[in-house]
Amino acid sequence: MADTQRTLIFIKPDGVRRNLTGEIIQRFERRGIRVVGLKKIHPSRELAEQHYSVHRERPFFSSVVEFITSGPVVAMVLECPNAIEVTRGMMGATNPAQSPPGTIRGDFGLDIEQNIIHGSSDPEAAAYEIPLWFKPDELVG
Ligand code: TYD
Ligand code: MG
Repeated sequence: MADTQRTLIFIKPDGVRRNLTGEIIQRFERRGIRVVGLKKIHPSRELAEQHYSVHRERPFFSSVVEFITSGPVVAMVLECPNAIEVTRGMMGATNPAQSPPGTIRGDFGLDIEQNIIHGSSDPEAAAYEIPLWFKPDELVG
């Protein structure tokens, strides 16, 4: 079996507001992915700005920070072989309107900003995002 990998996922305020949390976690669990950390939190502006710091110069930065801090999110660390690629595949494209049915964004959204879920994009992003959101003792392997 390939080496295991961890990724940082959170269900965004729109997904939580729409009660999609259980449905989304169920998809990951049924795929065989392990939940090693899980919590509901209302992100601070500081956390949101740090999380999206790679996009600081992009035109959507302030808007996406505003959105992510607009309500609680459900954050989790997921673990499986190739977790980043596997979960990004299950999530679909950034723009839900371009995500095929069967993907989380393709099944539940149409808005490029309010796109239901975040997942780390690559190993460097995961290594930055996991300790930003979770303390070591909040992760149970
Ligand atoms: P990005 O990291 O490019 O997408 P992904 O979440 O698929 O890794 O962008 C981060 C978030 O910023 C994205 O989930 C939604 C928001 N965003 C916009 O609002 N407008 C845009 O044009 C883009 C590219 C992203
Ligand atoms: Mg990204």
